Amino acid sequence: MTRPEVPLAGVIGDPIAHSLSPRLHGHWLRRYGLRGHYVPLHVTHAHLADVLRVLPEMGFVGVNITIPHKEYVLSLASNVSDRAALIGAANTLTFLGNGRIQADNTDGQGFLSNIRQALPGWTAATGPALVLGSGGAAKAIVSALLNDGAPRVIVANRTRARADGLKEQFGARVDPQDWTRIPDLVADAALIVNTTSLGMTGQPPLAIDLSRLSPPTVVTDIVYKPLETDLLRAAREAGCETVDGLGMLLHQAVPGFERWFGYTPLVDDDLRQAVLAP
Ligand SMILES: NC(=O)c1ccc[n+]([C@@H]2O[C@H](COP(=O)([O-])OP(=O)(O)OC[C@H]3O[C@@H](n4cnc5c(N)ncnc54)[C@H](OP(=O)(O)O)[C@@H]3O)[C@@H](O)[C@H]2O)c1
Repeated sequence: MTRPEVPLAGVIGDPIAHSLSPRLHGHWLRRYGLRGHYVPLHVTHAHLADVLRVLPEMGFVGVNITIPHKEYVLSLASNVSDRAALIGAANTLTFLGNGRIQADNTDGQGFLSNIRQALPGWTAATGPALVLGSGGAAKAIVSALLNDGAPRVIVANRTRARADGLKEQFGARVDPQDWTRIPDLVADAALIVNTTSLGMTGQPPLAIDLSRLSPPTVVTDIVYKPLETDLLRAAREAGCETVDGLGMLLHQAVPGFERWFGYTPLVDDDLRQAVLAP
């Protein structure tokens, strides 16, 4: 594909106004003095296929995809990465020319990179992981943890059948458990991850008994509003290492930016401040 003089990228969702992606890509474009723009694109399900056909004609080199299109978009791609196919969802599309679209899912990579940046040398092979939740984000995270060598990934979800579904999808190292067993399960986990929306501003709290939580368990939350969730605060007070969820959002954006704008951007404190600015 002939590279547009001013490459454009964006994030497609419905709704989209809340997305932090324009801020983070905009920060990188300014910081590295690159030509290009990254914009929010409000697109409904009914128009998504048409929009994806037209965007490359307008100078777009790729887009991020967010709720509610991450699954549907796979059916519109001509080339789906193994990890996107395994997870059944994509968050990063690259326009390859002649109407071809490459779909990838970078959420799991973003999740692991975030923990590794906070805790250098950390690996999922350290011990069993306890994942709370079984939604779209949980799929990407369970897949990434298994890929990184987790010996067992215990999944507790309010709707038990969805946790069972992850075992069917990802295999024997996934250990589905009832949500009510969480107080016991925290004791043996090397890593605890909240992938539910609980604890997010405006959502119900994540009300779980953490009395058996202690170091060296590492605790992370993919909710990043607030930055320190009640789960992370309780874990810090118990003496555990904690990793907040903003870094996952920042790291998942790196592969798309690299592909679209040809530069490998840094995830650092400047970026965090730019994204968090009021
Ligand atoms: N940091 C990042 O980069 C990043 C990336 C992706 C997502 N996220 C955040 O992660 C969260 C989940 O996203 P998602 O796309 O996975 O959502 P999703 O597919 O809708 O899954 C939601 C999960 O939360 C559980 N849940 C919801 N309400 C609950 C309740 N009252 N009690 C117990 N469990 C409850 C659901 O359980 P059931 O199966 O029982 O309904 C399900 O497991 C969102 O807050 C999203 O903003 C962050």
